Amino acid sequence: MTERVRALDIILARRSVSPRFLVAPTPTPDELALILRAAAAAPDHKNLKPYRFILIPPERRGNLAAAFREAKAERDPGAPADEIERAGEKAYRGAMLLAVVLRIVRDHPRVSVSDQMLAAGAALENALLAATALGYAGCLRSGHSATSRRVRLALGLANEEELAAFLMLGTPAKAPPPREEVTADLLSIWE
Ligand SMILES: Cc1cc2nc3c(=O)[nH]c(=O)nc-3n(C[C@H](O)[C@H](O)[C@H](O)COP(=O)(O)O)c2cc1C
Repeated sequence: MTERVRALDIILARRSVSPRFLVAPTPTPDELALILRAAAAAPDHKNLKPYRFILIPPERRGNLAAAFREAKAERDPGAPADEIERAGEKAYRGAMLLAVVLRIVRDHPRVSVSDQMLAAGAALENALLAATALGYAGCLRSGHSATSRRVRLALGLANEEELAAFLMLGTPAKAPPPREEVTADLLSIWE
């Protein structure tokens, strides 16, 4: 198989795997460095790198869980204790956990916000593809926790930064279903 076919196979076969099925082993430090190099190889207008990643080590999951619980209590003050507890449990999902931070320059003279968002999205896909090529799988999760002030504060984000999502990586405990092809309306001919 040529390298070119292999690259396409990986792109076409990549599927997100639910965080609860992302188990150890996780990427080694060298592999994670490669995954980040792949992310940084995505197209990026003026090379602004409008994103960064924060690795949440296993021993800090408890702190993230506390922030998730506080965020839930803040957004839903009447929530029963078991719901608050469940919000915290999400911090333990996915064998390797990274926060994806957007650092968009809103008033850049040349590079629009959408260009920067697209660069960040392309970087995320490159990261997922690199993880897939190394035999791992991953998924992205945003949701309430990512938009919460409490969680932003806990992770030490700067004022102008946004928590875009969490990127979870690991070994897939079960194979995801093959992708259904949906390309029908992706292309039209200008006439
Ligand atoms: C930035 C971003 C955030 C996402 N957040 C969520 C999420 O919170 N919950 C969810 O079910 N899917 C979320 N998704 C979608 C999944 O990660 C996944 O891409 C989708 O289910 C399609 O599966 P596939 O990647 O195998 O095609 C998100 C996708 C992106 C790009």
